[in-house]
Amino acid sequence: MKIISKLDFENLKFANQEDTIITVGRGTCGIASGADEIYNALKKSFKNVKSVGCLGECYNEPIVEVRKGKKVLRYNKVKLEQVNYILENIDKEEIQKESFETRIVLENCGIIDPEKIEDYLSFGGYKALVKVLFEMEKEEVIEEIKSSGLRGRGGAGFPTGIKWEGTKNTKSDQKYIICNADEGDPGAFMDRAILEGDPHKVIEAMIIAGYVIGADKGIVYIRAEYPLAVNRLKRAIEQAEEYGFLGNNILGTNFNFEITINLGAGAFVCGEETSLLNSIEGMRGEPRVKPPFPSYKGLYGKPTCINNVETFANIVPIILKGANWFKSIGTEKSPGTKVFALAGKINNVGLIEVAMGTPLKKIIYEIGGGIYDNKEFKAVQTGGPSGGCIPASLIDIPIDYESLNEAGSMMGSGGMIVMDTEDCMVDIAKFYLDFSVHESCGKCVPCRIGNLRMKEIIERITDGRGKNEDLDNLEELGKMIIENSICGLGQSSPNPVLSTMDYFRQEYIDHINHKCSANKCKKMIKFVITEKCIGCTLCAKKCPVTCIEGELKQLHHIIQEECIKCAICYKVCPVDAIERI
Ligand SMILES: Cc1cc2nc3c(=O)[nH]c(=O)nc-3n(C[C@H](O)[C@H](O)[C@H](O)COP(=O)(O)O)c2cc1C
Repeated sequence: MKIISKLDFENLKFANQEDTIITVGRGTCGIASGADEIYNALKKSFKNVKSVGCLGECYNEPIVEVRKGKKVLRYNKVKLEQVNYILENIDKEEIQKESFETRIVLENCGIIDPEKIEDYLSFGGYKALVKVLFEMEKEEVIEEIKSSGLRGRGGAGFPTGIKWEGTKNTKSDQKYIICNADEGDPGAFMDRAILEGDPHKVIEAMIIAGYVIGADKGIVYIRAEYPLAVNRLKRAIEQAEEYGFLGNNILGTNFNFEITINLGAGAFVCGEETSLLNSIEGMRGEPRVKPPFPSYKGLYGKPTCINNVETFANIVPIILKGANWFKSIGTEKSPGTKVFALAGKINNVGLIEVAMGTPLKKIIYEIGGGIYDNKEFKAVQTGGPSGGCIPASLIDIPIDYESLNEAGSMMGSGGMIVMDTEDCMVDIAKFYLDFSVHESCGKCVPCRIGNLRMKEIIERITDGRGKNEDLDNLEELGKMIIENSICGLGQSSPNPVLSTMDYFRQEYIDHINHKCSANKCKKMIKFVITEKCIGCTLCAKKCPVTCIEGELKQLHHIIQEECIKCAICYKVCPVDAIERI
């Protein structure tokens, strides 16, 4: 049905939310864990089964919830055999657990059906668009966003209201709105989950941006590796068109807006806004020199407002609840919430949304459930390849833009990779540097050559060929690359090395002295069996590459050329006869 007036919208009728409904998490994580067969089995026996996106607890998938209004009965890691039990206990009640999260961006994720616009509408969807079109002046909208203090969630943290105002005030016959859904940081999956779980929230915000700024074309630039998000987005756009939220004369006004999807091929640099513009225009994914910024000269030389998925997902709540409400959450300079993707050595791998300023300790231990296998927390990497490592000594640090920058890292887009004492920080720094070397577009020399030279030095260190002057050289090169690169990729790529050198310098010095205490840098490790050996044969039995020789009750021997340095022999020896040298 097409809605052609405010009255039409107000007269929309929805299903009764008090009816018992069973939801099944069918984001990428849910489907990968087997949610589809559970969904199909439930649907055969119960009429009100809803497919929803990810609730954030990827580690608990497949998740099934029985919802009656606000009452929720939760089943985690559901197996097909449990389906009958769930149906037989449909009226059972459960006491709600305390949540440490604050949900603005993810408020509908895992609750609404992302493939049905009617469900989004029944949760207040498109009310913000109606409010903007019929009850607010365009300047008022900009003032509200400016006053909310919302900062871009794509990495740089630029104030969104100021960006919108700049694009609005630039005169042009054509303007564009772009949603950046490239999400290239290793370990980050916030934007994917938002688009898979609540695509209309982003679409509604893009329409609002188009109206306020004076653009009639919107583009979602999304990586092709996100097929589920792409499909749900396509479907959501079609439904918004059917209802008249997209197209010509939206809701009977003279405002026209269309959204198209542009698939990215997975180059990290194409998440950088000017490379993204080049990519859409069909040119090489290389950055442009700024200024001019895209707000003034963007796509095809026209004013373009580029915002990240999560930034857009904050707009509807701000319009509906106001800037003061938004400012009451988070910190003074970083209002609102941030969605993080928790990964690495943490028990609760998944998505969380917390108020800005939440202490890291709370994120790791209360929400994240602590370190995997009860190991000791060593550091957390934030901000992806542009960020840095925060050591365990800073566990009480509040997570917001300022504190992370002060600690030598950055918010980035929200990836948090947790490390324990078995991780080698030099090896971690090498991983990120390697990523930047691969992803550098090669346009500017400092990034193309500088990162490669840094990688050669760090490889020398992890191979046990490090020299004392290597550390000074890394620092000097790193600073040079940061200062002279054209775009944010080069301007931040040395950060993982520089921050680990700040906090874990001794580990670098140990490596130069041929010691990797985490046992990760294989080339400098050698295992030998000493005279203490009692010939129990356990090491030989457990060795995955059978490179240990010896007769029962005789001294054993490791064939060094075949050893893969996995340390299993070292760990299993009952008399500590194996030494690592
Ligand atoms: C190498 C590089 C990669 C980036 N990747 C992304 C990305 O995947 N998604 C994103 O929203 N912003 C990314 N950015 C930041 C964008 O350039 C830009 O600042 C952002 O899209 C603006 O939106 P915001 O103001 O809402 O954060 C990247 C920046 C750099 C330097």
